[in-house]
Amino acid sequence: MKVRPRILMDCDPGIDDAFAILCALRFTDLAAITTVSGNVSIDNTTRNARYILELAGAEVPVHRGAAAPLEVPAMAADDIHGRSGLGDMSVPEAMISEHSLRAVDAILEYCESGDAIIVATGPLTNIAQALLKDPTLAERISHLYWMGGSTSEGNVTDRAEFNAWADPHAVDVTFRSMVPLTMYGLNLTHQVRMTTEHIEQLRAAGSSTSMIMADLLAYYSTHGTVSDIGQPVHDTCAVLGVTHPELFSIEKSNIVTHVADDDRRGMTEVQDHDTTSATTVRVAGTAHASSVVDLVVTAAIDPAGDDQP
Ligand code: RIB
Ligand code: CA
Repeated sequence: MKVRPRILMDCDPGIDDAFAILCALRFTDLAAITTVSGNVSIDNTTRNARYILELAGAEVPVHRGAAAPLEVPAMAADDIHGRSGLGDMSVPEAMISEHSLRAVDAILEYCESGDAIIVATGPLTNIAQALLKDPTLAERISHLYWMGGSTSEGNVTDRAEFNAWADPHAVDVTFRSMVPLTMYGLNLTHQVRMTTEHIEQLRAAGSSTSMIMADLLAYYSTHGTVSDIGQPVHDTCAVLGVTHPELFSIEKSNIVTHVADDDRRGMTEVQDHDTTSATTVRVAGTAHASSVVDLVVTAAIDPAGDDQP
């Protein structure tokens, strides 16, 4: 029986964040969720996290986080995730209320005993604020798994990925903290896509979660960069990188983060020559995509299940 790793998940739900939350419920011991402004406003990402947890029948504390990036203005991605952040559904208020402790203090409390695992699937604003508030925090984080950045193409500009572009200063603060980090960038997540076949699979399963996730995947498949090879479920890779590391190849790389507000903003550039301004992080390179997607489907159908494929 696989031991479930205990994690804190920082996210900006967001449709692929929703799939990632279900993966976290299925395959990890999800201690807490902290929310951040990113795909949509902090009000919406916080409401959406509470809704997905309630839909899955999970009682996990939700801590509201940053309403804006460290320095640049907030820019939503509602063209892809819908105005609510969960497609075109009007998201009901969950019975689960948000926790009174805000995200930064929840992260500091969660990391108190050391060896903490954090999965981040949005802009790194909360993580950076926690690191700035307590400069010793990085010593108590055993690993940060982040969906963000890219060593190849971008999706906001031709060079920058959304989570990095949305708050490049937070990326720089986090990388420079030397926290042990694995980056699941677009170079990796573009390999992991769900198609209309998976929409049909989710609908056929007929569970309360799979029916909603089928609708969200259908919306996601017709918005943003529509592709006939399916839509990348980016954020699930960071969660499954914790629980199923054998499905990913990882290499160390020297990365320079571009923070200037120019055409390179948010670029996470591999810099193996002049490493003076680079930081060394682990970068996920390849995925066993079909196995990853099968796990996502399993979690979307039955997030409370306990057989550990
Ligand atoms: O670039 C993809 C990332 O940006 C994902 O985390 C998605 O949810 C959006 O936040
Ligand atoms: Ca996200």
